[in-house]
Amino acid sequence: MFDVELIRKDFPILSREVNGKALVYLDSGATAQKPECVVELINRLHREYNANIHRGVHRLSEDMTQMYEAARERIREFIGAKQREEVIFTAGATASLNTVAYAWSERFLSAGDNIIISEMEHHSNIVPWQVVAARKGALIRVLPFDDEGRLMTERLEELMDERTRLVAITQASNTLGTRPDLEQIIDKAHAIGAHVVVDGCQGVVHGGVDVQKLGCDFYAFSGHKLYGPTGIGVLYGRRELLEQMPPFLCGGDMVDRVSFEKTTYAPLPLKFEAGTANFIGAIGLGEAVRYLSGLDLEAVECHEAQLTAYAQEQLERIDGLRIYGTCRGKSSIVSFNIDGVHHYDVGMILDKLGIAVRTGQHCAEPVMAHYGVTGMCRASVAMYNTREEIDALCRGVERAVRMLR
Ligand code: ALA
Repeated sequence: MFDVELIRKDFPILSREVNGKALVYLDSGATAQKPECVVELINRLHREYNANIHRGVHRLSEDMTQMYEAARERIREFIGAKQREEVIFTAGATASLNTVAYAWSERFLSAGDNIIISEMEHHSNIVPWQVVAARKGALIRVLPFDDEGRLMTERLEELMDERTRLVAITQASNTLGTRPDLEQIIDKAHAIGAHVVVDGCQGVVHGGVDVQKLGCDFYAFSGHKLYGPTGIGVLYGRRELLEQMPPFLCGGDMVDRVSFEKTTYAPLPLKFEAGTANFIGAIGLGEAVRYLSGLDLEAVECHEAQLTAYAQEQLERIDGLRIYGTCRGKSSIVSFNIDGVHHYDVGMILDKLGIAVRTGQHCAEPVMAHYGVTGMCRASVAMYNTREEIDALCRGVERAVRMLR
């Protein structure tokens, strides 16, 4: 049995008030709240352990290095990677995707090649590819979605040819909640020798991932959406590919030997971890993963799915409200607009009631363009949300409609 009240006790922020009302936090898609164990560990690391990793023989440095590498191992296990060398700490999913875009394209992309991106990608999985395509003289092709938010995977073959080198695809859309059929996309891409990079930001949180089973070549996610700290993320890459790619950022810790005549690089994963790593963030993320691994994740996913379906069902009853993304099996995201009402106004009235939702373009302007809107309201559900909070959201939206129409 999943006990949401027990879970809520682990998240201290959930008991605070906003504008004199109990906080209803429905913006976990932007960043999730942190359990007490993560908050406490980060404080303790700063108070009792702080020292730079991989750089000293003194006790504090040794302890910190050991904790950093233990966090890497925990995350390796959590995402099902085969080897620690394939798990790279970055500053976040954006940094992970930029790392692949730069380093992969240096090795694998040439003029006249093409890259396929879905129409529902976050800007972080669009813009880096546009930049490298422009640099290399490659082309970007777009796999569209239909008005329900279903990705038109059947169109993939039309877009692919012998010059397709990569498919960049989300595990779950941050705006529509759609979960593309990754297995099918990966199979089709691999059949023509193309690589696949998966943006796992919204997917890893709801149902997790097994990168080996999935068979993707690269997988990126951020720590702060997975109940961990900000400023830390992960890039998984197949070792065979990472070995062939040049470094992205260069500096300390990513080198083997440096001289003015010749510099050689450190072995994986450090080749892609230049500079002082966010070691406290990485250990904090390891703690978040430890916390998650202690839960019944199937029950968590089921709770989130039921709550999302309930939110969708209740919101749909509101006159003039349109939900974007109604695919079966969607993730814990409900984006909507109301006829004649601006999304920012709705967001502001909800805030007065202590309810946090995201408003705006959600870093997915092509999705907004698809529907011809300037923005949307988005409620995103996490394991600590309740039916009562969804009821509060619906009452708040109804109130906003009454006030604004
Ligand atoms: N990418 C994050 C979101 O979808 C910030 O809200």
